[in-house]
Amino acid sequence: MTDDHDHLAGSRLDVTRIEPFGAAVRAPEPGAHVRDVPVETLRALVREHRLVLLRGFDNFAGPQELSAYCERWGELSVWPFGTVLELVEQERPADHIFDHSYMPMHWDGMYREQVPEFQVFQCVRAPGAGNGGETTFSHTTAVLEHTDPATVAQWSAVTGTYHRAMEFYDSVTVSPLVAAHPGHGAQVIRYNEPTAAEDSGFVNHPDLQFSGLPDDALAEVHRSLRAALYDPAHLYAHTWQTGDLVIADNYTLLHGRNAFTSGAPRHLRRVQVLGTPPLDNPGLVR
Ligand SMILES: [Fe+2]
Repeated sequence: MTDDHDHLAGSRLDVTRIEPFGAAVRAPEPGAHVRDVPVETLRALVREHRLVLLRGFDNFAGPQELSAYCERWGELSVWPFGTVLELVEQERPADHIFDHSYMPMHWDGMYREQVPEFQVFQCVRAPGAGNGGETTFSHTTAVLEHTDPATVAQWSAVTGTYHRAMEFYDSVTVSPLVAAHPGHGAQVIRYNEPTAAEDSGFVNHPDLQFSGLPDDALAEVHRSLRAALYDPAHLYAHTWQTGDLVIADNYTLLHGRNAFTSGAPRHLRRVQVLGTPPLDNPGLVR
């Protein structure tokens, strides 16, 4: 992080830039609570920087407190389990989300009726130094701006058909790789990164099909797109500290997870905030 205090000049907030994107807000004094920071200030920071980290603040004691706070941001995505997903490694996971494996790049809500604008993550317990488990975020408008037009044209020719069945849904979504941001209309990437079929350590592979180009050109699209998404100029891998709160722009970013040491005490809570108005999933087929 580099010093960059321009964005909230005159305010009491201590904001620094995260590289290659994002803004970090530090607690102004011990005992300051996340709730004390105006939501509209944070919303503006997320819209500008795509990701905001609040660190050093007093945080929410439990899922109900977190959910109540997130309602100040907007309408929440409601799941069979409620509004708060407890991301903890399970002993015999039925799906990779509850494993310690890596999580490929994707956008949240891709298989649901509505696509949330914001994700709010609270780190209840960090996995610990050296244990991995960073949440990875890729800034897709930056990717598109920094990629040569011929390559973007290849990406734009491709449509993904995604089928995933897990505990909470069994859905098919069809989406072009390059789509318009539902708010400002700039181009963003909507992509669920394929995982090698022979990776038997990856629990519950989704069924991903891509069309629009011949197979050899599709292979090159996956290669060039993956390289761009994971380029350090566009990728922020967040190393969790207990108590962190991260708010991310799900319309612009893709995200995933680095693998972590099995048995490490990684515990995140995640809430999804819908846009205003909520965005009906343009790609959902069923
Ligand atoms: Fe996700």
